[in-house]
Amino acid sequence: NSEKQALLERKNAEALQGGGPLRVQAQHDKGKLTARERLELLLDEGSFQEIDRFKMHRCKDFGLDKEYYLGDGVVTGYGEIHGRLVYVYSQDFTVFGGSLSETHAEKICKIMDMAMKNGAPIIGLNDSGGARIQEGVNSLGGYADIFYRNTRASGVIPQLSAIMGPCAGGAVYSPAITDFIFMVEGTSYMFVTGPNVVKTVTQENVSAEDLGGASAHSVKSGVTHFSCGNEAICIQHIKSLLSYIPQNCEDEVPLLDYDLGQNELRPKLDTIIPDNPNHPYDMKMVVAELADNGTFLEVHQKFAENIITGFVRIAGRSIGVVGNQPQSLAGVLDNDASVKAARFVRFCDSFNIPLLVLVDVPGFLPGTDQEWNGIITNGAKLLYAFSEATVPRLTVITRKAYGGAYDVMNSKHIGADLNFAWPGAEIAVMGAQGAAQIIFKKEIAAADDPQEKLQEKIDAYTRKFANPYKAAHRGYIDEVIKPSETREKLIKAYKMLANKVDSLPRKKHGNIPL
Ligand code: COA
Repeated sequence: NSEKQALLERKNAEALQGGGPLRVQAQHDKGKLTARERLELLLDEGSFQEIDRFKMHRCKDFGLDKEYYLGDGVVTGYGEIHGRLVYVYSQDFTVFGGSLSETHAEKICKIMDMAMKNGAPIIGLNDSGGARIQEGVNSLGGYADIFYRNTRASGVIPQLSAIMGPCAGGAVYSPAITDFIFMVEGTSYMFVTGPNVVKTVTQENVSAEDLGGASAHSVKSGVTHFSCGNEAICIQHIKSLLSYIPQNCEDEVPLLDYDLGQNELRPKLDTIIPDNPNHPYDMKMVVAELADNGTFLEVHQKFAENIITGFVRIAGRSIGVVGNQPQSLAGVLDNDASVKAARFVRFCDSFNIPLLVLVDVPGFLPGTDQEWNGIITNGAKLLYAFSEATVPRLTVITRKAYGGAYDVMNSKHIGADLNFAWPGAEIAVMGAQGAAQIIFKKEIAAADDPQEKLQEKIDAYTRKFANPYKAAHRGYIDEVIKPSETREKLIKAYKMLANKVDSLPRKKHGNIPL
């Protein structure tokens, strides 16, 4: 009996070694942790339960019949984060470069199926040289099995991907389908075709880091939502994000304890809007005042900075925030901002997270670049995302709400539950200057002093439309409020909406303009 137990112990010890001490050392030398070290940081102490520790590949080609590692390059199982169940897989670069074989894929699929059946998030820690080259199509089939499950799980359970090493070729498409991607600066990269192929095909010289590092994807492409200074920070971010999201689409985020008897006035907000309507201010300061202390987790921080997305707590409730950022491009909506916000809104709606929309938007960005890159389709994505969202939806117009962008930014007309405006809000088809120049064109041209006439007309238009009252008269704004009382109003409104029931007409699925 003890012999049998000794065999088990030997096998366990062998599996824990991964690709052996030399390869582990090489991994550490690159500033990377091993698959198991990462899981230790990620999961509550002692909570990890491994599955398929002894699974091995079945390939007999190219010498692989002589090379076996228990676990086959990926550690899978379940555990807890802040006491809540999660399923995990962590690719082990020390075993065949973390490459994906048929069996490696089977392990991931098994854990995904369990996550779906039991309604808990799945977290993938990716560090892989891609398809196991010796296995050919078996490996490609394995990828597709994962992509298929990613798609079926989309909107059912939260799916998070951390890229902690290479992730190239077809491998990128699993993270791409998941809800959030995290990357580690300096040690991770993602691309469909690497620098060598790029050079051959386009004669471009580009490094892996420039082509698909954390910086490229967090600033330029928007592929990654979080760019993290090192692996420990990355794992911290994953845990933090999980605290704002539920276990599955039928579940709600646990409310944190909050004493509702507190003074919720935020006088600082009364002074935040500059006197000159063309001067910028930082919408993140507004978010900070409205949120419970220090609870803002920003998503896509460096991508499309003209719109802010992220999670906050308001009186202990998890809320998804979308806000125009007047400090960047005056807060206009452009292609990137529209797509960024649309995807965020859809995530929140999929997972029952109420929305808060902070509006200060001068309109859509004009120009050939925008039009030719599809601002019509992309702006429509955001419009569609808000319109189909059934979670509680609140809007606060802090300053400008012009043109089509007024409609798009969670207006009353597209189903928002309560729309507030601050007293300085300007809700109009366009800014007074542009409006006066168009509708009084002839009158201005014929005037003795066109400049004076223009100013007169601008003033007239401003008096009529550059305020929230026209909209309030029509009920498009439910209440005009002092900035300082906004937090109080939001707390009450979210409480009032806590049992909101709304659903979409029966359909197979909508056809969002992709
Ligand atoms: N299939 C099988 N084995 C692979 C592999 C793959 N796709 N990618 C890496 N490996 C193995 C290597 O043979 C090496 O094995 P060893 O430890 O026995 O020597 C080990 O993983 C580490 O790879 P190495 O190349 O030494 O690491 P690196 O950090 O210098 O480079 C990569 C990492 C990913 C850039 C490089 O391994 C690579 O280009 N791999 C192939 C990528 C690819 O084309 N994949 C298929 C298409 S998706």
